[in-house]
Amino acid sequence: MNVESKQAVDLFGPAQIGNLNLQNRIVMAPMTRSRALNHIPNSIMADYYSQRGSAGLIITEGTSPSPNGLGYSRIPGIFSKEQVEGWKLTTKAVHEKGAKIFIQLMHTGRVGTPVNLPKGGEVVGPSSIQVKGETWTDTKGQQPYAVPREMNSDDIKHAIGEYVQAAKNAVEAGFDGVELHAANGYLLEQFLNANSNQRTDSYGGSNENRNRFVIEVARAVSNAIGKDKVGIRISPYGVFNDTGAFDGIEEQYEILSKELNSIGLVYAHIVNHSSMGAPVVPESVIQKIRKEFKNILILSGGYDKKRAQSDLEDGKGELVAFGRPFIANPDFVIRLKKDQTFAEADQSKFYTPGAEGYSDYPSLN
Ligand SMILES: Cc1cc2nc3c(=O)[nH]c(=O)nc-3n(C[C@H](O)[C@H](O)[C@H](O)COP(=O)(O)O)c2cc1C
Repeated sequence: MNVESKQAVDLFGPAQIGNLNLQNRIVMAPMTRSRALNHIPNSIMADYYSQRGSAGLIITEGTSPSPNGLGYSRIPGIFSKEQVEGWKLTTKAVHEKGAKIFIQLMHTGRVGTPVNLPKGGEVVGPSSIQVKGETWTDTKGQQPYAVPREMNSDDIKHAIGEYVQAAKNAVEAGFDGVELHAANGYLLEQFLNANSNQRTDSYGGSNENRNRFVIEVARAVSNAIGKDKVGIRISPYGVFNDTGAFDGIEEQYEILSKELNSIGLVYAHIVNHSSMGAPVVPESVIQKIRKEFKNILILSGGYDKKRAQSDLEDGKGELVAFGRPFIANPDFVIRLKKDQTFAEADQSKFYTPGAEGYSDYPSLN
């Protein structure tokens, strides 16, 4: 795009998504922090999120709509009464700071072990294909990922119902909307990706069929809480959790974007983990998504102030998400604006329980 087509848009200026007014175009990216003991959100989580309330939009850590989706230790859920009550602390505290907040609905699917699941929970996925490697459990240390049970059509209907109920619960808990986590190899992407979905029924075997589950979830959730309250995160070409590229991937995301656009989702949020060592996401697929999906696009991955401002001006997206910089800099937005120095996060505390390395980073401002 040439200089003439630059748009006058300010990273720190107000923006709108659906009916929501954002105080700026900066999004706090969803980040799992594993502080939810017994999978119930608590007051230190409310502290952590409210400290970061100078963002325009906060997207919470991945939160399970189902007991089956709690594949990791201490990730929160949004399917029980206690979880809804727990999340109210966060939504209230964040709104008092002026930010809006979406909850990321993350069903871990095959990325899990029964050791981490509550009683009655089960590791399920589109196909019985195990993720390579091991995952942390608080009771038995490292454990191999389980071989998931292939979901039958009743399981699929049940899971769609769980997303719908979780979205309604999110609204009750005070969230401004939900982000469907269809990225990074969790359940929704497990259906999208030909390496994890080898079904031969109407949910696998072709682009349209692999898209079907995600589209059905998006439509059902939009019908339940309103399309203006539903965004989605996608990661074409991502490799996390044994995903990776496959034949026809760009065409599939093109079709998916068109469908999501016709449902009217409020935003699409594109993952790019090349700054974390993942393969570069080709510009070609991003352009296809941009062309078919007419609503808000959220950019993310390794952004700094200059590139964020420049990509907004080039019309590549409307909002920019920042992840890691928010961890050690609760007042990240103000530091970014004033060109102040950033604190470095202690990576050894990314997923440990308690306030340390979480809600105890000081603000400069
Ligand atoms: C500690 C940590 C936890 C993360 N958890 C999630 C998550 O729950 N859901 C998600 O979509 N992405 C997750 N991500 C990815 C981030 O949202 C973001 O895409 C990534 O950090 C790249 O952006 P950055 O370069 O601004 O950090 C996580 C990243 C980190 C560092």
